[in-house]
Amino acid sequence: MRRLTQQQPIRAVLVIFGGTGDLTSRKLIPALHNLKAKGALPEHFAVVGVGRRDLSDEGFRESLYPTLSRAVGENLRDDAWARLKERIVYRRFDFQDEQGYKGLRELLEQMDEAYQTGGNRIYYLAVAPEHFEVIVDKLQANGLVRNRDGWGWQRVVIEKPFGRDLTSARRLNQKITAIFTEANTFRIDHYLGKEMIQNIMVLRFANPLFEAVWNNKHIDNIQISATETVGVETRAGYYEQAGALRDMLQNHLLQLLTLTGMEPPVSLATEAVRDEKVKVLRALRALTPERMAADVVRAQYDRGRIEDRRVAAYREEKGISPTSTTDTFLALKLGIDNFRWAGVPFYIRTGKRLRAKSTDIIIQFKNLPQILYAKEHGALQPDILIIRIQPKEGVYFQFNAKKPGMDPGISPVKMDFCQNCDFESNSPEAYEKLLLDVMRGDSTLFTRWDEVEYSWKFVDQIAQAWGEEEKASSLTTYAAGTWGPAAANELLARDERDWWSVEG
Ligand SMILES: NC(=O)c1ccc[n+]([C@@H]2O[C@H](COP(=O)([O-])OP(=O)(O)OC[C@H]3O[C@@H](n4cnc5c(N)ncnc54)[C@H](OP(=O)(O)O)[C@@H]3O)[C@@H](O)[C@H]2O)c1
Repeated sequence: MRRLTQQQPIRAVLVIFGGTGDLTSRKLIPALHNLKAKGALPEHFAVVGVGRRDLSDEGFRESLYPTLSRAVGENLRDDAWARLKERIVYRRFDFQDEQGYKGLRELLEQMDEAYQTGGNRIYYLAVAPEHFEVIVDKLQANGLVRNRDGWGWQRVVIEKPFGRDLTSARRLNQKITAIFTEANTFRIDHYLGKEMIQNIMVLRFANPLFEAVWNNKHIDNIQISATETVGVETRAGYYEQAGALRDMLQNHLLQLLTLTGMEPPVSLATEAVRDEKVKVLRALRALTPERMAADVVRAQYDRGRIEDRRVAAYREEKGISPTSTTDTFLALKLGIDNFRWAGVPFYIRTGKRLRAKSTDIIIQFKNLPQILYAKEHGALQPDILIIRIQPKEGVYFQFNAKKPGMDPGISPVKMDFCQNCDFESNSPEAYEKLLLDVMRGDSTLFTRWDEVEYSWKFVDQIAQAWGEEEKASSLTTYAAGTWGPAAANELLARDERDWWSVEG
């Protein structure tokens, strides 16, 4: 988004803390492979993986290959992998171990010589949040963060969750920015690297057709839906603490809301875009205790069937307490109190073990006065615009048209632009885009601190309203493989609306 004036070639060593972890093998290494295959990875670039497993450099590279080949499938290019892996090395040490950082410093100095990386480093924290503070502390204590002229730049990439509430997020932020500064802190939300998410702004601000009607005069309601068919999988410990509220709402869903609701920025400069996103979070209507009871639905999946397969209840999953009150589903009605959106409800829905995997933003337009056609044809269907984020990427528009032939009937027709049907090979994985942006120093698609702060303020009021006692009483259940609990449908039925189906 931001125009980069810097003409210097990018130079950097990427140090991945958590090099032996799931995120590295499933996302980061495939993204680097794809960039290499496309010729997009800089020449002056190398990777260090850090973990505790006892591996040689070659053993580490070999351990990455099976997951890489599964992740990229037929796009695997052995020549690209061969050239990339030459520049991947491994260091084994515990994050607490001072000597490990001293060794890392020596290694990085040697790599600067070998690859002419000029002291530039990206420290990617692909680790559980409890390690964030200790790693940044020890990086600083061992002279691995300088950010001064003549020493190159050092940036840190932090995976979600950034804190578990406002207080812990503030503490973490103070620690990290005191060492790296805000400009060198990249809080990653991989949703923002997805093609269609970047397309939301283009769709809105490059098309008069949409921007002219993007307001409360023409829009009846907006639905933001992020549904999954998978259950808690191997992340029981994390998910029990987070639930859908912290895992999805605090970051991904509020980010989708800001991009859908923001005003046009004065330019595409990083801070101009982020300023407008923050204003949406500031305008979110507070959830009073009465509104919480009426407008927030929380639920947990029970046994059910997904694609003809029996699946267990959340409380029966490995590592989950049999009396857990963690939410795996959330539906909310939100309001943005500004001139553009006054009176337009935003319905948000997310959950695990639902009927289909899909992330969509659905804009339902207001009907025209029912004067001309209603008598003969009955109420017409509203116009609907769907921005499909995943797995299908594209834009779907449903509107009314005359039925062909002599019959005077009217029926909804659709225009369906599927971006990843025709351009699949061109649609980069989110992590490809985001890793390149970190190398370039472009933080437009990363979350600024005040975005994190306002989103935690919003989420904290919900979490606090569900104190320990209310946590059990406010929880309902739904059968796996459905669209969630009946209460989520009632949330819209009360307003004489329905969730739009996101299948197909
Ligand atoms: N996986 C995903 O798809 C995903 C998606 C979004 C966000 N995230 C976030 O990304 C982060 C990493 O997740 P993950 O799924 O990759 O976790 P993971 O598979 O459990 O990997 C954790 C990594 O940390 C290393 N580690 C743990 N304690 C260590 C210590 N004391 N000293 C040195 N190394 C240590 C492990 O090394 P050894 O195994 O060698 O001990 C391993 O490489 C988390 O914050 C998670 O929330 C993950």
